[in-house]
Amino acid sequence: MSAPDFYETERALSEYLLFHYGSASQTMPWSFGPATALSYPARCVSECLDPLLLPAQARALDLGCAVGRSTFELARHCSEVIGIDYSHRFIEVARDLQHQGSTSYAYVEEGRLTTPATAEVPAEIDRRRVTFEQGDAQALRVDLGHFDVVLMANLVDRLRDPSQCLSALPSLVRTGGQLILTTPCTWLDDYTPRAHWLGGFERDERPVRTLATLQALLDPHFTLARTLDMPFVIREHARKFQWSVAQATVWIRR
Ligand SMILES: C[S@@+](CC[C@H](N)C(=O)[O-])C[C@H]1O[C@@H](n2cnc3c(N)ncnc32)[C@H](O)[C@@H]1O
Repeated sequence: MSAPDFYETERALSEYLLFHYGSASQTMPWSFGPATALSYPARCVSECLDPLLLPAQARALDLGCAVGRSTFELARHCSEVIGIDYSHRFIEVARDLQHQGSTSYAYVEEGRLTTPATAEVPAEIDRRRVTFEQGDAQALRVDLGHFDVVLMANLVDRLRDPSQCLSALPSLVRTGGQLILTTPCTWLDDYTPRAHWLGGFERDERPVRTLATLQALLDPHFTLARTLDMPFVIREHARKFQWSVAQATVWIRR
């Protein structure tokens, strides 16, 4: 299995349904665990989006939406939201959630022992505002139109060619629109050939950091409004968790 295929697996589906829709006690059953790292897909919207900058009838795009929690959260503020992900499996389940409001799954306790659970979209969110489609963030269909918000949560370090994807953003985001980009900067050869990494290497004996490359690539078209450090936790099983700190940047289209 190649690394990108991970997002088509049963394990990834279970981990991401829990990451996106699990309660605090399901995701982190330990009282001494990192409570501030919970609810990350919802926090990418609640902590990063400025609703006061949105026009009426705002449109939003969630690139690399996985099983869709941030996409639904954007629908609290925007009348149309499109979620796009490369994983057929994730999009199939995101569509189930859009149609039915909930879906059943199981998350791992230990080995092959699992606990049944239900992922539910918060009842107050208007699911009719949301659509999901399978697609490649590096080769988006040309008729997507323009957006007041584009969210890319933990996507760039999972792409083969992140700068190619970033080069499409100026034509996707309307003037005054918001680009929310988060990344834990986990650069791996399995996902991104080293020549395409945005940071995490030396050039001319100087360290190259992801934020500096993002600024160089986005600056001509976007103003950097805010940077945030956002902890998040993904549960693998009851005794193993990935705790990470994403670097979030919020950009306004000039
Ligand atoms: C680390 S996950 C982040 C998912 C979600 N945004 C979140 O924060 O939970 C990366 C996601 O990007 C998706 N992805 C990877 N390559 C992609 C591509 N070329 N186009 C669209 N989505 C892609 C994966 O399927 C996966 O759902």
